[in-house]
Amino acid sequence: MFEIILKQEMAKSTIVRFDIKAPKIAAKIKPGQFVIIRVNETGERIPLTVADVDSFSGSITIIFQVVGKSTALMRSLNAGDFFKDVVGPLGKAAHIEKLGTVIVVGGGTGIAILHHITKAMKQVGNYIIGIIGAREKGMLILEEEMKSLCDEMIITTDDGSYGQQGFVTQPLEKYLNERHDIKEVYAIGPIIMMKNVSNLTKKFGIKTMVSLNPIMVDGTGMCGCCRVTIGNKTKFCCVDGPDFEAIDIDFDELEKRNSMYIKEEKDALLFSIK
Ligand code: NAD
Ligand code: FES
Repeated sequence: MFEIILKQEMAKSTIVRFDIKAPKIAAKIKPGQFVIIRVNETGERIPLTVADVDSFSGSITIIFQVVGKSTALMRSLNAGDFFKDVVGPLGKAAHIEKLGTVIVVGGGTGIAILHHITKAMKQVGNYIIGIIGAREKGMLILEEEMKSLCDEMIITTDDGSYGQQGFVTQPLEKYLNERHDIKEVYAIGPIIMMKNVSNLTKKFGIKTMVSLNPIMVDGTGMCGCCRVTIGNKTKFCCVDGPDFEAIDIDFDELEKRNSMYIKEEKDALLFSIK
C-alpha cells in the first residue's frame, strides 16, 4: 500500500497532483521514467510519468488529467488514503547531458513530465529556454516551478488570456529563426503538438526528443499495446521509451491508436457517476 501524502487540484480541478510515499521508487527513478498505479485490487493499471521526486521524504509526484472512470476514481482520493499498487521505475530514463542551449516545450498536462526533465537538464548546466502553453490562463500548470528552472521563459495561451496568444509552436519558430545556438528541443504535450514541433525542428535540423503516452497494459514489453512505429520499425514505448527522438515517429498512427477507446472511456465514466 502506498500513502498519498499531498493532494492538490489544479487547472479548475481537471488536473490533480498527488505526492505518494514510495521510498524505494523515489531512490531509483530518473526523469522520463514512469510508474503504473492501481487504485484497488480490481482497478485499471494507469501508467503515469513522474513529474518530480523528493528523495528526502521518499515521495514521488504524479500529475494527471481526469479523463475517464479510473482517473476520476483517483481524484476522489485524498491525503492519507492509499493506492493498492505503485510499480516502478518503468521505462528508460531520459538522456540528460550538458549540451549548451536547449529549448523545452510543454503543452497542457505534458508540462508535468517536462518539469522533471527540465530540472535534470538545469542541474547539468544547460541554458534553458522554456515555452509552456495551455488553452487558457486557468489551465496552465507549474508556471512558477518552470520559471525557477528556465533562463528564459515564454507562456502561451490559445485564447490569449495570459502570455502570448497562440500555440507553443509560434514562439518556438521565432526562436529557431533568430537563434542559431539551439542544440536540442524537448517537447511534451498532446500528440498534435509534438508532431507540429517535430515538423518545425526538422526544417532547422535540430534534434528533438518527445515523451509518448500510448495505451499501455503490462508496462514491461509483453502485451504489445504500447507499440509505436518509428521509421518503419516497431518500438514498445514501455521498454524502448517513453522518450524517443521525434524524427520519423508515426504520430498519426499513435493518435489513431490512442483514440480507439474514447467512447468506452466516456461510457465507463458516465456509468460510474450514475
Ligand atoms: P491541450 O489540448 O490543452 O493543448 C496544450 C497546448 O498544446 C496548447 O495550449 C498548445 O500550445 C499546444 N497545442 C495544442 N494543439 C496544437 C497544435 N495543433 N499545434 C501546436 N501546438 C498545439 O492539451 P491537454 O488537454 O493538456 O492535452 C492533453 C493531451 O496530452 C492528452 O491527449 C494527453 O494524453 C496528452 N499527454 C501527453 C503526455 C505525454 O507524455 N506526451 C503527457 C500528458 C498528457
Ligand atoms: Fe505492454 Fe508495452 S505496455 S508491451
